[in-house]
Amino acid sequence: ITDRDGVTHTVQAPTDMAMNIMELVRAYELAPEGTIGVCGGMAMCASCQCYVLNDVPLPEMGPDEDAMLAEAFYVKPNSRLGCQLNITDELEGLAIELAPEY
Ligand code: FES
Repeated sequence: ITDRDGVTHTVQAPTDMAMNIMELVRAYELAPEGTIGVCGGMAMCASCQCYVLNDVPLPEMGPDEDAMLAEAFYVKPNSRLGCQLNITDELEGLAIELAPEY
């Protein structure tokens, strides 16, 4: 996970706690409190937006995530909402960068 200061952190992510990427970033305190996960993971704020940096296969984007990213700032073709990416074994090796705060 590359934080908003450009520092990359390698983290261990539990697959048995029903955690998502946004919650993982918060757990490791890789973004200041109140700047990520503002809507609580409801795909309604985009504060958890991140850019996917490698080709680890991800789950399809759902309609809520798609709609939120259509309205968000700083969106790139590789944008996803961290709160919509549940941590699973399939995400092993995933590299992401946090989108800027807004
Ligand atoms: Fe609000 Fe992800 S936490 S969209």
